Amino acid sequence: MYNEINHPFLKHKLTVLRDQKTEHKDFRELANEITMLICYEALKNVEVEDFEIQTPMSKMTGKKMKNEIVVVPILRAGIGMLDGILTLVPNARVGFVGMYRDHETKKPVEYYSKLPEDVRNPLVFLIDPMLATGGSAVATIDLLKNKGFSNIVLISIISAPEGIKVVEEAHPDVQIFTGNVDERLDHNKYIIPGLGDAGDRLFGTK
Ligand code: PRP
Ligand code: URA
Repeated sequence: MYNEINHPFLKHKLTVLRDQKTEHKDFRELANEITMLICYEALKNVEVEDFEIQTPMSKMTGKKMKNEIVVVPILRAGIGMLDGILTLVPNARVGFVGMYRDHETKKPVEYYSKLPEDVRNPLVFLIDPMLATGGSAVATIDLLKNKGFSNIVLISIISAPEGIKVVEEAHPDVQIFTGNVDERLDHNKYIIPGLGDAGDRLFGTK
């Protein structure tokens, strides 16, 4: 299932992010701000349980999170969303998966992974700004499931309809939260209108 966040403030920030005039400093700040807005919605998925406290005025039953949040950015561009989600969930654990799209085949190539162990009731936030063909997301979800993580939400800033379909077919249990569903992929499997190469724009490599 996918959820597109239809909030005017988010759409405003997305527009500035996409603009080719926006350079890496502002791009990085915006990517983290947008991540916070999307992740706030996605945090609806946390399980809570009743928790008794005493306020200065009286006893009350509040709520306490039952999940430990594990954030997994897909390297490299996912790093550009990490500060945003850690601002919301500072005690999250962080794992890393390195994946790049081969320039010829457009298929994902895994080159690194380091994930937290012995996590109590983990809820994984898999973060990557771009969901294009869906290849990188599906390969990373396969890896996470093979390592024993079953409760996974995927957070993307921009998604192509093609990528959403691929993830939904491969992993129907994974909810997708995205800032926008764009029109389509071009012949190079880039998102149109998209924002170009997220990694290059975040890190100023081109
Ligand atoms: C980008 C992006 C995703 C992937 C999306 O990474 O950050 O990981 O492409 O494409 P897909 O849905 O077709 O797999 P890229 O391969 O450019 O690597 P980078 O983050 O190292 O720049
Ligand atoms: N990766 C990107 O960074 N941008 C796209 O549009 C597609 C894949």
